[in-house]
Amino acid sequence: MPFPPDFVWGCATAAYQIEGGAFEDGKGLSVWDVFSHTPDKINRGDTGDVACDHYHRWREDVGLMKEIGLKGYRFSLSWSRILPEGIGKTNKAGLDFYDKLVDELLAANVQPWITLFHWDYPHALYLKGGWLNPESSNWFADYARVVVEKLSDRVTHWMTFNEPQCFVGLGYVSGGHAPGLKLPNPDALRAAHNVLLSHGKAVQVIRAEAKKLASVGWAPVVGPTEPASETPEDIEAARRATFACAATFNAATWWSDPAILGRYPEDGLKAFGADMPDFPTSDMDTIRQPMDFYGVNCYTSGLCRMGAVGKPETVERHPGYPRTRFSWPVCDNALYWGARFLHERYGLPLAVTENGMSGLDWVSLDGKVHDPLRIDFLTRYLRGVRRAVDEGIPVKGYFLWSFIDNMEWARGYDERFGIVHCDFVTLKRTLKESARWYAKVIESNGANI
Ligand code: FCB
Repeated sequence: MPFPPDFVWGCATAAYQIEGGAFEDGKGLSVWDVFSHTPDKINRGDTGDVACDHYHRWREDVGLMKEIGLKGYRFSLSWSRILPEGIGKTNKAGLDFYDKLVDELLAANVQPWITLFHWDYPHALYLKGGWLNPESSNWFADYARVVVEKLSDRVTHWMTFNEPQCFVGLGYVSGGHAPGLKLPNPDALRAAHNVLLSHGKAVQVIRAEAKKLASVGWAPVVGPTEPASETPEDIEAARRATFACAATFNAATWWSDPAILGRYPEDGLKAFGADMPDFPTSDMDTIRQPMDFYGVNCYTSGLCRMGAVGKPETVERHPGYPRTRFSWPVCDNALYWGARFLHERYGLPLAVTENGMSGLDWVSLDGKVHDPLRIDFLTRYLRGVRRAVDEGIPVKGYFLWSFIDNMEWARGYDERFGIVHCDFVTLKRTLKESARWYAKVIESNGANI
């Protein structure tokens, strides 16, 4: 069966990773601006000050999207570009930037899918306690209101958060990402709970105030576990492993169960034990909001089988197993199992909101960027999506990470995920071979997969 006729073939980016213009036109600082200027936090001391300079080259970039034939473009807004202090006074120039970008996308027939928050938290609010502040969910709802007021006459697809696992887990617990905190679990759990409340309140704001009927979701990261074989036992082991929650913030269920099912997962609560603070039960009603789609960011997967004692048993990838430049294992069926398990558990339509790989790409002597491994990688993963669709799992779209090579957070510019190559010295863009291939995928609605 082919992909559905209205399948959204897209690409994804995030504000801090591509925009640059970090200190321009009244933008306030974000925690990533500060973190990247702190010694020893980012490879080589790279920063997002300029990044791909998308803040100035957005017209050219939308032109390239049009050339590729993208149907959708998932991008995030820089909160502190819009509200330099995070709350209070809006920055007209910042809002205008997104306003014009949305117009340009629509004129190019590219549907904007907006992520409200992709990690670049306003520094001014961080100084007030950030996600630990009990007011933080109201701040986020107020920010959502400003954006919705300005853009919802044209934008219909919204995501609240990108990968809460990462900005809490890496940003507030292990410290490898901005703002670089290493909080004990009771505090991190409060921050995470405020993030969930923020999600709920923002969904309410979008639903109540959007001028056009809104389709609302979010984009957590999910590393599913695949079954070593397709026996019912191994499949059950993989399902359980995919949804298991230990005392860490990376489990899908720690976030998705509250937001969709209205409760924290039992095993997670047990694992966090006495560290779990008390919350009013009414919070769960705010957190649990109807969503129109579950956006899944997925790059790789684990592997397991059912062990002799009826417990999932991890199967290690063999030595020399294919891996990307980032060392992430290449797992052909990750999106299939991810979509299948997520749909079973949460019952929502899905969109793949991120998937792709970093490679060793450069402009060859012939002026082209040859990235056959990326084409192979994407074909494998997209076959998984097609299988899910074939089996009746509603997957609405696929957003390739990324449209363009960009600032890969703590790794700086070392990891190239784009289908458009960016020369970070000249800022010249070059379509990689994968971009030309993706254009054909889109044109044929996936018939060449
Ligand atoms: C995800 C992030 C995205 C990008 C990719 C490679 O975790 O959401 O910004 O860094 O990984």
